[in-house]
Formats: sequence, structure tokens, C-alpha cells
Amino acid sequence: MKQFPKNFLWGAATSAYQVEGAALLYGKKASQQDVINEKSFEEKGFASAEIASDHYHHYKEDVALMAEMGFSTYRFSISWSRVFPDGVGEVNEKGIEFYRKLIDELLTYGIEPIVTLYHYDLPWALVEKYQGWLDRRIVTDFEYYAKFVINEFKDKVKYWTTINEQSIIVQYWTQKCYIPKELQSQNQLRYQINHHMNLAHATACKLVHELVPDGLVGAALGYAPIYPLTAKPEDVLAALNAHDLRNAFYLDIYFKGIYTESAMTYLQENHLAPIVEPGDMDLIREGYSDFLALNYYASECAKACPKESGKAIRYSGVNLSGKKGEISGFETHPGFYEMCKNPHLDTTDWDWAIDPIGLEYAFRDIYTRYNKPLMITENGLGAFDELTPEGKVHDEYRISYLRDHIKAIKRAMEKGVEVWAYCPWSALDLLSTSNGVKKRYGFIYVDRTDDDPKDCARIKKDSFYWYQKVIQSNGENL
Ligand code: BG6
Repeated sequence: MKQFPKNFLWGAATSAYQVEGAALLYGKKASQQDVINEKSFEEKGFASAEIASDHYHHYKEDVALMAEMGFSTYRFSISWSRVFPDGVGEVNEKGIEFYRKLIDELLTYGIEPIVTLYHYDLPWALVEKYQGWLDRRIVTDFEYYAKFVINEFKDKVKYWTTINEQSIIVQYWTQKCYIPKELQSQNQLRYQINHHMNLAHATACKLVHELVPDGLVGAALGYAPIYPLTAKPEDVLAALNAHDLRNAFYLDIYFKGIYTESAMTYLQENHLAPIVEPGDMDLIREGYSDFLALNYYASECAKACPKESGKAIRYSGVNLSGKKGEISGFETHPGFYEMCKNPHLDTTDWDWAIDPIGLEYAFRDIYTRYNKPLMITENGLGAFDELTPEGKVHDEYRISYLRDHIKAIKRAMEKGVEVWAYCPWSALDLLSTSNGVKKRYGFIYVDRTDDDPKDCARIKKDSFYWYQKVIQSNGENL
């Protein structure tokens, strides 16, 4: 089999609000995630973002553990409201200092930072001011924040990702953005938010190109290839429709600077299309991407959904319990497609299809269509890990998941796909976006529960030692 190139980047990923904690300390003010997660703590008993994995106070220990695993890269995000507590205006010196120290610590160990500018945690002040991403003014404020951060780290950070998972923000908008109750039925706003994010993404790409010597920039996209449920032509066409609205709709913006025709037509017919102002598409074209950072967890499946089905438009459901099969429904667009379960694939306890071939398929397909380098900035298995009385975590299910996905990357590379980095989710256990801290992803166990933050002690899981060997052998010893 083809080998990973010598300079291949091995690491893992996290995001600010999901690991840092110190949510309202050291000058940081609330982000929309602090508010959203406080609510889900009260309503569902999931941990809040207040302490998360307490990475803010453990960052040195965490980076040392990453170095012990052999990381050559680490993908993390910067919390906008830690740097600018009010979104714009006065910088919080202590906030930016935290990221200076984190980046310097990484560089001391020779770990290349991959910085994400935005991972769901909009400053709450901007939600209060003009409802955040719902308002175009956000683009100017994002530029202000991005310019400051990029300038600050332009000599230390080469790889930048802009906005995390626009596609997932459209699907699960009330989880990822604060949307007032009275607006939650207005689905057009999902695509309007996305349009504002396209403008913000393009702005950040331009800034990296202007300010960072040899800087490289791209979006981190939540991506699932879509299979037809059957070979019936109606289902195959439905899968193409789903691909156009759920995948191409983002990729075509990043790499071609256009909105996918079929998806836009569908949205227009259903009064869901975003308002695009003169000059917007020029900006989008100017803010081109150098690579695509892919967050891959699962593939998806679609079937035909005739207009006459009598069904209404709906968006993706979630599984809140962690019991297989309790997902609360599938995205439906009558006359275009309906998502469904793939009967050929096993799933995680939260109903996410486990499909390493889907990653190989996605890589091949995206590379053929756009011919740009790819990196994995998320890939992983959420599971109920158990800490044994001996202080061990035997997570062989995670090892098996990751092993199969690394093999899939290798197979895609053998067919010519250019891949730069592998950053599974996540370096350490963290606050899940939808299921609290009991759904764990890390190589490093964080000793806390949803209702008791305990001391957040770090414990190496079996996967920690396995990944160490993988990295040592540059992906040969799987
Ligand atoms: C990705 C996000 O969608 O999936 C992460 O970028 C998230 O922030 C990850 O944690 C896993 O999803 P969840 O809901 O299990 O946390």
C-alpha cells in the first residue's frame, strides 16, 4: 500500500467552547454557546460550557500529552468572545494572551497549529445587538475579529480554517446558533445565515491571503456522502438532489464561487433562497479556498419523496438518549428528496452510520470535482466510555473505528487524492454539541460527568497508546 508522505500531519481536534471552560473568567464574556448549553443543562441535564474539560487551566498538561502521542499538528478554535468580549471594540488582553501561550506551547513541541476562527461560539453581545448571524452586520464584525487574530498570529500559524461546518449549522440551527423561538419556523433564515457565513468565510480567506506569508486557508465542512436507498432511478436522482443541497451547495461556493444551480432553484421555488446583494458573489469569488478541511463521521442515505406525498419540509432529527433507533426523524424536502436510514450500515449509539468506505468515496468524489488538497479536521466515534476501577479505559471500538478510517484515507491516496492531515475528534473528551459529556470522543479521558465536574483529571485511554504507535510508524502500524 502507498505510504503516508513524510510530512503528513498527524494530530487531533477540539473546539474552544467544548474544551476550555473558564467561560466567564479572565475577561471573557458569554458566547451564544454558553447560553445554549446553560439551557440544555437545565432542561436535559447535559453539562454546561462553564467548565467543559477545563482545558483553560490544563492546557500545558494537555499539550504535553499531545506531544507524548507524537502529534505534529493540533486543530483548535479561538473563542471570539474571549478575545473580544463584546464582539468588537476593546480587546481582552488576557484572552489573547491565552492563545499566545497555547500556540507557543504547541510550537515548543514542534506541533503545527491549525486554527479555526469560528466554531459555533458567537459573542452573546452580538446576538443581543442584532441577532448575530441573522443580520448582515455580522460580516463586518467578523472581519474586525478575524483581522485582529490573523495579524496577531500570522508569523506562527500557517494553516487557517474559517467557519466550522456551515452545512451542519443549516441543519441544526437552533443548536449551533441562538435563534429566538418566534423565528424558528422561518426556514429561509437558515439559508440567510449561511449566506452571511459565506461572506464571512470569503472575507477571512482574503485576509489570510493578504496578511499571512505562505498562509493557507479553507473552510472546515461537515460532510457526508449521500447514497441512494435503492437503484431505482427516482432514488438515485433524490440522492443527487440531496448531494446538491447538502454538499455541493457549500463546496461550489468555496471552490467555484457560485451557488449550485439545482439547489438554488429548489430553494427559490420554496421561498427558502437567501437574499444575495449586488457584489456578494464577487466577494465570494475573491475569497477562494486553498484546501478543504473535512469533518467526516458518517455517510447518509436518501430516497425519493414525491411532491404529492403530502409531507412537509423538515430538517434533521437528533438522538438525545444514546439509545440506538431513537433519532427523531429525517430531513425531508418534498419533490426533491427525503433522508433515511441506510439498512446496510451499523450505527453508533446515537444513530450515526459507521462507514469508512464513505470517507474513501467522499475523498475520491471531492478531489475529482474540485482538485484541491484535503485534510481531515474531524473524524471519530462518540461512545459511552467506562473508566475501570484500575483507572483504565479500554476503548477498542474507537481504535477499530479510527483504524478503518485511516485505511480508507490510504486507499483514497492510492487513487491519487492529495491529503495533508488527519485530525480525529477529539484530542481529549469534551462537551458534545448535542449530548453532554457522557458521549466521549477523546484519546484522553477527562474525569468528569454531566452533573459533576470533579477535578477533570486526565487519563490515557487504550486508544492513546494505539494512536501513539500509528503516528510513530507514520500510519504503517495500525
Ligand atoms: C462536529 C462538530 O459536527 O461534530 C463538533 O464540529 C462536534 O463540534 C462533533 O462535537 C461531534 O458531534 P456531537 O454532537 O457528538 O458533539
